[in-house]
Parts: sequence; structure tokens; C-alpha cells
Amino acid sequence: MVVTAGGTREPIDPVRYLGNRSSGKMGNALARAAANAGADVTLITTVEPPHEATALHVVRVETAASIARALEDALPGAAVLLMAAAVADYRPVRVSPGKIKKSTGALILELEPTVDILMSLRDAPYRDALFVVGFAAETSDLLANAKKKVQEKGLDLIVLNDVSREDIAMGSDLNEVTIIDGDGVVEEVHRAPKDEVAEAILRIVSERLR
Ligand code: CTP
Repeated sequence: MVVTAGGTREPIDPVRYLGNRSSGKMGNALARAAANAGADVTLITTVEPPHEATALHVVRVETAASIARALEDALPGAAVLLMAAAVADYRPVRVSPGKIKKSTGALILELEPTVDILMSLRDAPYRDALFVVGFAAETSDLLANAKKKVQEKGLDLIVLNDVSREDIAMGSDLNEVTIIDGDGVVEEVHRAPKDEVAEAILRIVSERLR
């Protein structure tokens, strides 16, 4: 099983990056729960892995491109991908080799799209043997947006997160999610510690694999 966790950091210069508020707690909880259940887990992460990481194969990454590269190594032969990482959609076109000095005028950063990793997996030779779970971070039209992502990215399941709420999701120890497949809602997991939400997600994945 391969799990990605945390928010990516796209460099601007040697000291600055474009990032997001993902803490990596949901991905860590999934990796921990899967390893505790006896799975062979590769955790590709931008953040500190769980303490009991001895049972995990940990690959530290920073950018969208480095997650994509790590997945190229980890996915052939894997049965499940849990794509919990919050991957940047844009990165600076140029990374300044030196620290950008301040001046009085506005600073305009030019951004270019990163590769959509889940989308690119659609054509991978090992895709048919892989069960792929995406994670949707939404602030509006939650169900409609998540359903669109299941279809467009060709996912087996998507875990919908309402990232506009401060009591769950990004940075919180708690989460509340809706698990969706191509036909619609599979299960709603009410607000609970991320470890419990992880177990619910893994239960559904293992039911689907049977
Ligand atoms: N994802 C990805 N590659 C990207 C961006 C996102 O593989 N460049 C994955 C995420 O890891 C997640 C899923 O796609 O599992 C949905 O991510 P999300 O941020 O919700 O959606 P986006 O595809 O980025 O679309 P939008 O920002 O328009 O909501």
C-alpha cells in the first residue's frame, strides 16, 4: 500500500516556498492504521512521519514533482494508493537561485501548473491492478465537486473533506468525511479522531478489494 501525506512546498527562492495548510495528520493516520493492520506501507510524505515509523517505508518529499517521482518508484506492484497529500496545482516558473531582495514595488510571481498526478496515473501500465483513493479538499458545492473528481481522475473512491470548517480537516486532529465512488455516496463518517476516520476508510477499501 502506498500513502501520500502532507502539503507540498514549491520553492520560490532558497528561503521561501508556496505551501498550503495541510498538516499530514490524515495521511499519517492512514499509514499508521494500515501498518498496524499488517500492510506493507510506503509513506511518501512532506511532513514528519508517525513515531512508530519503523513499520513503514518512509520517503521524504517536498514538491508535486518529487511526489510524482516517488510514486513512479513505489506504485508498480502496489495494490492500493491512498493519495492524501495536498498537492500544489501551481508552482513558480522560475526559482530564484538567491534570496529575492525586497524593493518598494509589487512583486509578481509567475506560476505554471504542476502535473495532476492522479490524472496522469490513468494511463499508467499498472493502473488496472491498483485501487486508487483520492482526497477532495472542497469549500463549496462539496458533493458535486467531489463526484466530478472521481469521474475525471478515474478514481475507485474519493474521500470528501470540507476544508472550510475549522473544527475538522486541515490541521485538526479530527475529521468528518464522505466517501464517494463513481455511483455516489458510499458512507458518511461523522466527526471523529483522524485515526478512527482512517480505520473507516481502510475498512471500505478492504471490502472493495474482496
Ligand atoms: N492531486 C494530484 N495532483 C495535483 C493536485 C491534486 O494528484 N497536481 C490529487 C490530490 O492528492 C487529491 C486529489 O487530487 O487526492 C484532489 O485534490 P484537490 O486539491 O481536492 O483537487 P484538485 O485536483 O487540485 O482540483 P481543485 O484545486 O480545482 O479543487
